[in-house]
Amino acid sequence: MSRGDPEADRQPTRSGGSTDRLCPPDWFVETANVSDSDIRARFEANWPGCWRAAADLLDWDTPYDSVLSAGDDRLTWFEGGALKPSVNCVDRHVEAGRKNAVALRWIGAAGERESLTYLDLQYEVEAVAAGLRTLGVGPGNVVTLFMPNVPELPVTMLACARLGALHNVVYAGFSADELADRMESADSEYLVTCDGYYRRGSAVGQRNTADSARLRLDADVTGVLVGRLDDDPHLGRDYHGYGALRDEFAGATVEPVAREAGDPLFVLYTSGTTGEPDQVTHATGGYLSYAAWTAMAVLDIKPQDTYWCAADIGWITGHTYGVYGPLALGTTTLLHESPADHQAGGHPWTSIERESVDVFYTAPTAVRSMRQRGAPPSDEYDRSSIRLLGTVGEPIDPTTWHWYREHLGGGEAPVVDTWWQTETGGIVVATLPALDEMQPGSAGPGVPGLSVDVVDGAGDPVAAGTEGTLAVSRPWPGMCRRLAVEARAAGADADSPEAWRYVTGDRATRDADGYVTLLGRDAETIEMDETAVGTAVVERVISSLDGVTEAGVVRVSETGEIAAYVSCERNHPDTDALTERVRSRVRKEVSPAVCPDRIVVVPELPKTHSGKVMRRLLADVVSGHGYGDTSALRNPEVVGEIETVTREEEE
Ligand code: WT7
Repeated sequence: MSRGDPEADRQPTRSGGSTDRLCPPDWFVETANVSDSDIRARFEANWPGCWRAAADLLDWDTPYDSVLSAGDDRLTWFEGGALKPSVNCVDRHVEAGRKNAVALRWIGAAGERESLTYLDLQYEVEAVAAGLRTLGVGPGNVVTLFMPNVPELPVTMLACARLGALHNVVYAGFSADELADRMESADSEYLVTCDGYYRRGSAVGQRNTADSARLRLDADVTGVLVGRLDDDPHLGRDYHGYGALRDEFAGATVEPVAREAGDPLFVLYTSGTTGEPDQVTHATGGYLSYAAWTAMAVLDIKPQDTYWCAADIGWITGHTYGVYGPLALGTTTLLHESPADHQAGGHPWTSIERESVDVFYTAPTAVRSMRQRGAPPSDEYDRSSIRLLGTVGEPIDPTTWHWYREHLGGGEAPVVDTWWQTETGGIVVATLPALDEMQPGSAGPGVPGLSVDVVDGAGDPVAAGTEGTLAVSRPWPGMCRRLAVEARAAGADADSPEAWRYVTGDRATRDADGYVTLLGRDAETIEMDETAVGTAVVERVISSLDGVTEAGVVRVSETGEIAAYVSCERNHPDTDALTERVRSRVRKEVSPAVCPDRIVVVPELPKTHSGKVMRRLLADVVSGHGYGDTSALRNPEVVGEIETVTREEEE
C-alpha cells in the first residue's frame, strides 16, 4: 500500500476534494499508451489538427479533407472522409491476423461463459446484418434494440452499423411507455428485443413489455425476438426469430456500407434524473475516433488486454467504452449480464480473477455498494492482473476512491475518475494516468485538446477555487450533433473555436493547477446567503466519516429544511453519535448554514437505473408529498423503507 498518511483522505478541503496527490507507479508509466509529457502543449499548439491522432486510429475508405469544417448549419469533424464502423471494430482485426483473438467474452447471470473471437464476431455480425437486410433495414433506418447485456446486443449494434442503419438502444429495465416514447420520437419501425433475461438471480420477462409498447405505437413495427430464457421462444405473428434469421443467413457476406464522417451512427436517449429524456445523435467519424482515442489515452486499453466496462450497454458508457472504443482498439471486452455489484457472491473479484482483467471501469455507486458489503480477504481472490481502474457517472469521494484502489487495485493501480455525458460522446475531464498526479475526489484536468473552464451565471470564468458551472470552451470530435449545430450557430469554426462554449449543467470548482472537482448537477444546490453550495459538497464531507458509505442531501423548498440520508458499512455506528459527527463536521468544513436538520440512516439510497442517486425522490419523501412513480429506479424496493424510517424519525 503506497498511500502515505492514512488520515489524508479524511481531510477534505472546502470544496470536498482531498489535498493529497498521488503518482502512478513506475511499472504503469513504463508501458502506458500515452507517456509524452508535452502532449497537452502539442495538442494546444496544433488545434484542431491534433485530432488527426484520433482519426489515425481508424481505417478510412476515403481520406477526410479537413479535420474540422464549418458547414452552413453545423460543424463536421473529418469532413469528406468516409469509413465503415463495423470494419473498424471487427473485420480489420481479422485481416490483421488477429482472427483468433477474443473480441467479446460474455458472462451470463447463471454463470454461462461465452467467447466470440474477432472471426466469430464477423461471422455473427454478417449473418444478422443479412437477416435484418431481408426485413428491409437499410441506410438511415432506425432500429430499436431493447435488450440487456447479452452478446446479441453488440452483435446487432454492429450489424446495424454495417448496413448504415442507426441503432437506438433502450435500456432493458424501461417500461412499455418509455420504450414506446423512444421509438416514436426516433421514428423507429424496427424492434429487436428478447423474451426475457436474468436479473439478480431471477428470470424477468421482456416480451410483454415490448408487446405493450407496440400496441401503443401507430406505426407498423417489424419485430425480431432473441430467445434468452427459451432457445426456441414462441414467435406468433409479431416476431421473426433472431436465431432462425441468424441460422438462415449464417455464412452470408454483407458488403459494409461506407458512411460519411458526419452521418449519424446511432441515437440514444439521455438517462437524466429529472425531466424528459433527450435524444442524442452521434456522428460516425468524430464519435468513433474520439471513442477510440480516449479509450487508448485515458483508459490505457491495449489490444492484448481483457477489459471490463461494467456499465449496461443501454447507456452511453456501454456504447463508447463497452463496445465501440474497445473493439476499435481490438481488445477483449468483457460483458456481464449482471451489474458488477451483483455478481455471484455480490462482488466482482471472481470475474477479475477468472478472466484476468487488466482494466476495470465502473460507477462509484457500484464501488460504494461493494464497500458496504465488504471485500473478501486479499489472499482469497487474485486481483494482481489489474493495471488501471476507472470510475464514471457520479462524483467519487476520496474515501471510496482509496477503498477502490486498495481492494481492487492492490493499493497501487492508478485510478482515473472520468467526467463526461451522453452529449459529449466520450471522456472530457480525467487525468492521463501515466502523466498526471491523481487527486482523489477530483476528476482532474481536461483531456488534451479540450478546453475546460468553470463559469458563472453570465458565462464568465470564475477564480480558481470558486464554485460555478463546468463548461467546455471549444468543440471536440465526440460532441453530439445538437452541440455541433449550436456551436456553428454561435459562430465557431476551426479558426475561432472559442466563439462557442458548452455549458454542461454540472457544478464544479477548478483549482490553481486546473484540476476540476465535480459537485453534482446545477439543480442540486442549496441556497445559502448570497451563494449556492452543491449538495455534493455536503455529501462528500459526510461520506468521509468513518463507517459511512454514501450520503444524499436534499433541501425541502417549502420549509428550507435540510435532510441528509446516509447509508453505512455493515456494522454501522450508533445513530445518535453519527448524527452529532455529521453535524459538527458539516458545520466546521462547509458552513453552519447548510448543517443538516435531520440525519436519516437508510440501508441504501434510491438510485436510477444508471446508478445515480435520485435526490428528487428523497426530497418528495421528506416533504411528505408522497413519492409517486418509482419505475425510474433500479432499487424501488428501498423506497418503502426510506419512507418508514423517515416517518419514524419524525416521531
Ligand atoms: C452526468 C451525465 C458519462 C456517462 C455516464 C452518464 C454525471 C458523469 C461523472 C464524474 C461526477 C459525473 C454528471 C454528468 N457524471 N461522470 N466522473 N464525476 N459526475 O452519462 O447519463 O449523460 O450523465 O453524469 O452529472 O452531467 P449521462
